[in-house]
Amino acid sequence: MKKVILDCDPGHDDAFAMMLAVQNLDVLGITTIGGNCTLENVTKNALKVLEVLGRTDIPVFAGHSCPTTVPLVTAPQFHGETGLDGPVLPEPTAKAQDQHAVDFIVETVMNTDDVTLIATGPLTNIAAAINREPKIVERVKELSIMGGSVTYGNWTPAAEFNIYVDPEAAYRVFNSGMHIKMSGINLTRQCCLTAEHVAKFREIGTKAAHFAADLTEFFIDTTIKSASLSGANMHDACAVAWLIDPSLIKAADMHIDIELKGELTRGMTVCDYRHLRGVEPAVDLCREPQMDFRGEAPNAEAALELDFPGFMDLLYKTLKNYN
Ligand code: BDR
Ligand code: CA
Repeated sequence: MKKVILDCDPGHDDAFAMMLAVQNLDVLGITTIGGNCTLENVTKNALKVLEVLGRTDIPVFAGHSCPTTVPLVTAPQFHGETGLDGPVLPEPTAKAQDQHAVDFIVETVMNTDDVTLIATGPLTNIAAAINREPKIVERVKELSIMGGSVTYGNWTPAAEFNIYVDPEAAYRVFNSGMHIKMSGINLTRQCCLTAEHVAKFREIGTKAAHFAADLTEFFIDTTIKSASLSGANMHDACAVAWLIDPSLIKAADMHIDIELKGELTRGMTVCDYRHLRGVEPAVDLCREPQMDFRGEAPNAEAALELDFPGFMDLLYKTLKNYN
C-alpha cells in the first residue's frame, strides 16, 4: 500500500477523501489546515470522521489556522457552520497530537522513503513544510492535490477555492520542483453525486455508507442552493482515487503557475497546454502531445478526464468493506 499523509480541511468531500484513503492506502497521519472552516473545527471534524470509521489509531496533527499573508476565507455556504454539518457525529474519543502538522510532515518525509502527500485544502501547510526543509521536495514521491483548474474557477471566474484561499502558498508549492498531480475542478465537476448515489449508499447499509449518505444529502442541498449545480461534486475524493487506481483518470503533463497579482485572476492556476492540440473542450487535451513544449517544462500532471463509473465502483467497494 502507498504510504501517504493526507492534509485536509474536512469538509464533506474531504471526509470522502478520508474514507477512500484510510481503507485503500497506508495513512501515516492526517494533518489539518484552516480552509472550509476554522482550524479548530476541521481538526475536530477529522477526529470525528476517524471515529465513525473506527480508525482512531490514525494520528491527527493540527496545522496552520490561516494563510501567512492574507486572512482566511471559509466556505460555510457549502459545508455549514461546523464545516461538516448534516450527519449526527459522535464526540471524538481521540485527541489531536501535540506535534504541529508541519513538523510531522517534515519529520515523516525525511525519515520515511516514498511518502506521497495528498492535499485537499489550501496549500499553507505544504508550503510551510517546503520552506522549513526544502529537501522534502526530493524526498516525497509525489503530491496529489485537489485544487486549481485547467479551465474556469469556482470561487471566482478564474480561481478555485483551495488555491484562492492561499495563492502565495500554492505559488511556493508549484514552483518547488515537487512532482504534482493536480485534480482541478475541470476534473472534479465530472464527479457529481445525486440522490441516486445516496440511495445506493443506504442500500450498502454499513455505518460508513450511512455516514456517506448523510454527508452527500447535505452537500447536494448546499451545492444546489449555492452554486446552482445538479448534484454534489466530491472534489477531494478524486485526488485520492487517482493514487489508488491511476487508470481512473486521464491526465496531461503541463506547466502550471499561480497568478498572484491579477485584479480579476488572483489564485488562477495558469496552465500552459500550448503543446497540446485543441483548446476546448478540455478533454481533447488527452491526446498525445503534438509539438515540443513551447514554454517552461511541465511541473505537473493535470487531470482531465474521470472514469466516473469506475470511481463509484471504488467508492461502493470501500464503503462495503468498512465494518
Ligand atoms: C474545494 O473547496 C472546498 O470547499 C472543498 O473541500 C474542496 O477541497 C473545491 O473547490
Ligand atoms: Ca477540501
